[in-house]
Amino acid sequence: MEHGGGLMSLYPPIANSDHFVSTTDRFACIVRYGMHDTVVINDRQYDVPMQGISRLKAPEIANVYNYIRSRWYPNLPPMSEAEVRKQLANCTKSGN
Ligand code: HEM
Repeated sequence: MEHGGGLMSLYPPIANSDHFVSTTDRFACIVRYGMHDTVVINDRQYDVPMQGISRLKAPEIANVYNYIRSRWYPNLPPMSEAEVRKQLANCTKSGN
């Protein structure tokens, strides 16, 4: 898992994830509130819910995003704390 590849059908990969790239506009919501629906990521289905990590504040969520970005998605732009706050203000509580 250290390489971001996920764990079989339990945890989706963070590396090379078409879904990750298509949901950067609600990344902060997924981290804060979790994810509870069924998603298909790189042709594999995941339906184990992810719990939200509510103790992470905006700067920490930005740091997590920017770490993932710099390690696996160098072509994506970095995310500012202001962008994280903007996303958090618009989350539906299901995180999705
Ligand atoms: C800061 C830590 C974490 C971040 C940034 C994070 C990020 C994400 C993201 C972005 C997704 C959506 C999948 C995608 O877009 O590729 C996701 C899904 C998921 N995560 Fe996490 N996650 C974190 C921690 C965890 C932890 C600790 C667990 C389990 C113990 C977990 C389990 C899952 C599961 C099971 C899904 C799929 C949810 C579903 O099928 O609805 N995540 N995570």
